[in-house]
Amino acid sequence: MANILVTGGAGFIGSNVVDEYIKNKNKVVILDDLSSGKEENINPKAKFYKMDIRDKKISKILKKEKIEVINHHAAQISVPDSVKNPVFDAEVNILGTLNLLQCAKEANIKRFIFVSSGGTVYGANAKLPATENMPITADNPYGISKVTGEHYVRFFSNQYNIKYVILRYSNVYGPRQIPHGEAGVVSIFINKILKGETPIIFGGGKCIRDYVFVGDVARANVLALYKATNKAINIGTGIKTDVNKLYSIICEITNFNKKAIMGPERAGDIPANFLDISNAKKYLNWQPETRLKDGIKKTYEFFLNTNKGGNK
Ligand SMILES: NC(=O)c1ccc[n+]([C@@H]2O[C@H](COP(=O)([O-])OP(=O)(O)OC[C@H]3O[C@@H](n4cnc5c(N)ncnc54)[C@H](O)[C@@H]3O)[C@@H](O)[C@H]2O)c1
Repeated sequence: MANILVTGGAGFIGSNVVDEYIKNKNKVVILDDLSSGKEENINPKAKFYKMDIRDKKISKILKKEKIEVINHHAAQISVPDSVKNPVFDAEVNILGTLNLLQCAKEANIKRFIFVSSGGTVYGANAKLPATENMPITADNPYGISKVTGEHYVRFFSNQYNIKYVILRYSNVYGPRQIPHGEAGVVSIFINKILKGETPIIFGGGKCIRDYVFVGDVARANVLALYKATNKAINIGTGIKTDVNKLYSIICEITNFNKKAIMGPERAGDIPANFLDISNAKKYLNWQPETRLKDGIKKTYEFFLNTNKGGNK
């Protein structure tokens, strides 16, 4: 049992992590500015502060709530937005992370779990599947901000003995997903189909990604409370899925039988990314348990039942 602050705990992945922490009897405090997160995602058993991660008063909250672990999910999450406005991306993702680390130091935090992106930190030309010991580099401002965040986490750990775990997610999908994140395509396709519209597939549908279910990701965050100390760990499936295959699975589950509209290639879409997850097995004792079909079914049922979350 631990007292944990989850930043971004009203968002898609963060709220699923909060639920799993609470299920495992931890005490959770959420810090979120609700810029993309939603009140209905907030677990009623968690205490909630509507606050920006750049706020200097966070150290006071950490002390008041006797926080032991910070789990940092809050971020500007869109690659295209980071290209359009790299200064804002850096303010939230770099300076926000740095402020949290500084507050963590002031409040004697024991452990810092930092969420990074296995889809971007290895760069477009990475040898696949990407392994954690490959150099981290990045081709866009969002990826650069995640790489920089990782460097600061390691600096604070060396300098002030704050233990850390860096989790490098592949493309996360599942209930509460919003269309803007790295696996946004799952929620975009499902919500289009629910509205009776035909989804568009760009660039021939050959882009390969590694889709991991949010429930499995949440479990990895529970294990990271105690394991994989001072390591960066890939969290994915290692399974390659192209967009055409993803579309056919979604069509099968939703009983949709129209062919997708084929659109042009999109600038900046890297052809392939998937992760080696041997270290997650070795150091976290974690592996994904949800097959893509089952995860898509749960995601579809979520949007069908709530009709919330996917259509901002
Ligand atoms: N979705 C993916 O496939 C994926 C893949 C790799 C990494 N990630 C990372 O996972 C984390 C969560 O992403 P998500 O997909 O759940 O997105 P999300 O937008 O649902 O969650 C982000 C949360 O952070 C909050 N937030 C944003 N800026 C803030 C600020 N300045 N102060 C306080 N709160 C702020 C938002 O309101 C939101 O609740 C992010 O760090 C993202 O980079 C996501």
